[in-house]
Amino acid sequence: MDKKINIPHIPVLLNETLSLFKNMQDGYFIDCTCGFGGHSEAILKTFPNIKLIAIDQDIDALNFAKKRLEPVKDRIEFVHSRSSEALLNYKDRKIAGILADIGVSSYQLDQRSRGFNFEGETLDMRMNQSQEFSATDVINQYSVNELEKIFKEYGEERYAKKIALKIAERRKEKKFTSSKELAEFIASFIPRRKIHPATQVFQAIRIEVNQELLELQRILENSLKIANEGTILSIITFHSLEDRIVKNTFREWSKNCICQPEAFRCECGNNNAKVKLINKKPLVASKEELLNNPRSRSAKVRGVKFL
Ligand SMILES: C[S@@+](CC[C@H](N)C(=O)[O-])C[C@H]1O[C@@H](n2cnc3c(N)ncnc32)[C@H](O)[C@@H]1O
Repeated sequence: MDKKINIPHIPVLLNETLSLFKNMQDGYFIDCTCGFGGHSEAILKTFPNIKLIAIDQDIDALNFAKKRLEPVKDRIEFVHSRSSEALLNYKDRKIAGILADIGVSSYQLDQRSRGFNFEGETLDMRMNQSQEFSATDVINQYSVNELEKIFKEYGEERYAKKIALKIAERRKEKKFTSSKELAEFIASFIPRRKIHPATQVFQAIRIEVNQELLELQRILENSLKIANEGTILSIITFHSLEDRIVKNTFREWSKNCICQPEAFRCECGNNNAKVKLINKKPLVASKEELLNNPRSRSAKVRGVKFL
C-alpha cells in the first residue's frame, strides 16, 4: 500500500475519523465515498481483520482507488454505484463500520473538464458520469423560481433572485456552455466579496445536480436498515446544511423517549434509543491539518454506535 503514486486528494480528519472506529474488531467496513481511497487505506492498515466494501459513483476515482489498494485487493469489493442504493445489498453481512465523506473530491474540483470550478470548460458538475442530468440542464432549463429556490436553499445566496433573473435573461440570447462563462457572468454584476462571487451559486448547482442532501438522508436511512448491534457509523460533512441533517438524525436516533412533546408523562418505555452518540460535538481539524490542507477548514465529523 505504500507504493509511491501521485494522490490527487488528501483525506480530511483522518485521525479523528479513525478514533471514532477505534474498537472495531472484524466484519465489513463500508466506505460509501471511497474516492481516492485515503480513508479506506487507513482503515485497512489500522484494522487487519476488517474487509472493505469500497463504493463510489465516480468511475475515475474508483479506478484510482483500485490501483492504490492493489496490494490488499483480496480484502476489498469495489462497487461503482450511488451509496444509498448499494447499501441495501449488505443487509445480511456483519457490518462493523460505515463511513461517508460527503461531497466532492479535490480531483473533481480541480479538473476543468468536470465543470466544478470557476475555470471549467464544461457546465457539468456530475459526480456520476453515467447520469444524464447535469448543470447545463439546471442553468439553461430551470425556471426563475426554481433557480432562485436552489440558490437560496442550497447556496444561502443573498442575491438569489437577482442572479436567477439575470441568468434567465441572458440565456434567451445565448445558452450557457461552461462554468467559466457562468462564473464570469455572475462576477460581472455581483459585488466583490472575500470569496469568488459565484461560490454559493456553484455550491447550490452542485448540490442540485447530484441531489446531495437527499442522498445523505438516504445513506443515513439505509445505514439504519443494515446496521447490526455494535456497527459504528461516521459522517464527514463540509457545510452546515449537511451537518444539520446528520446532527438532527443522530439526535433523533439517540432518544430514549419518543413520546409526543405534549404528552403528560412518558408512556413509550423510555428505552427506544437506536444509537449511542460517540461524540456530542463534532470533531474538527487540528491546527496542523488546517495548515496542510485548507479544505479541512469546514469539515466536521460525527459518529454513532448502534445499540
Ligand atoms: C470527499 S471525496 C472522498 C475522499 C475519500 N474519503 C479519500 O480519502 O480519498 C467524495 C467522494 O465520494 C463520492 N460520492 C459522493 N457522494 C456519493 C454517493 N452518494 N454515492 C457514491 N459516491 C459518492 C464522490 O464521487 C467522491 O469521489
